[in-house]
Amino acid sequence: MENIKIKDIETDRLLIKVPTMSEQKSLWNIIKLEEVNRYYFPTPNRIFDKYNLSKENISDLIQARMIFQKQLNDWERQKPFYKEKIRSIKNGDNGQKFTWSIFLKSGEVIGQMTVQPNEKYLDNPVIRDVGWFISPKYQGQGYAYETAKAILDFMFLEVKIEKIITSAAVINTSSWKLMERLGFERIGEKKSTYLDENNQIVNCFCYEVSCDKYLKKRNYSG
Ligand SMILES: CC(C)(COP(=O)(O)OP(=O)(O)OC[C@H]1O[C@@H](n2cnc3c(N)ncnc32)[C@H](O)[C@@H]1OP(=O)(O)O)[C@@H](O)C(=O)NCCC(=O)NCCS
Repeated sequence: MENIKIKDIETDRLLIKVPTMSEQKSLWNIIKLEEVNRYYFPTPNRIFDKYNLSKENISDLIQARMIFQKQLNDWERQKPFYKEKIRSIKNGDNGQKFTWSIFLKSGEVIGQMTVQPNEKYLDNPVIRDVGWFISPKYQGQGYAYETAKAILDFMFLEVKIEKIITSAAVINTSSWKLMERLGFERIGEKKSTYLDENNQIVNCFCYEVSCDKYLKKRNYSG
């Protein structure tokens, strides 16, 4: 793996930039929306621990999610996490979490994509996970696909990671269809703590793509 720093990337319609504090509040205004964070942020373990709630119990899961959503709604509480994110990006090496802010060329920030160490392979920096969100106002226009192609090209060709292993809620079709368009293959299904709009637990599909398979797919589809 190469010791390459995160950099700004330009595509036809987008500026995909190294994050700064100036757009973080706008991003928070997007991610605090339940429709955006529902299958993006799993409810953190610290909430189950602090309030003595069980992941096995549906009413506990609902309660934990409500507490988490309340925390997400509070900018003053969230601000330190965003400040820390910017600080660690500035200081980071290439074993870090790579995070980009996605801007329209008009200057409006519309989303974020991350390529982070994979929780199960923390000691193996060439195996990564991904995360993405786009403002509901701009979904369905190919912006996530345009972003993901540019960022995965950079991660596989320049940083030289070897594989991405990730997952998406079964019900989150726009996310796993995006993975499939990028060449990811479904490798299984697992339990999650995500709840759908009717507070039913949903499973996640597991996906992965190797560098070879990603590049093969890119050659076929441009
Ligand atoms: C998942 C998510 C990032 C997708 O973002 P998006 O910008 O809407 O994705 P795209 O526009 O690239 O693809 C969505 C659809 O638009 C279509 N589309 C429209 N115009 C397009 C274009 N010019 N180029 C490519 N696709 C286009 C795609 O074909 C796709 O259709 P499909 O879902 O039927 O396959 C977005 O739905 C989101 O933010 N969800 C909430 C957060 C979340 O759940 N994140 C994922 C956690 S795993």
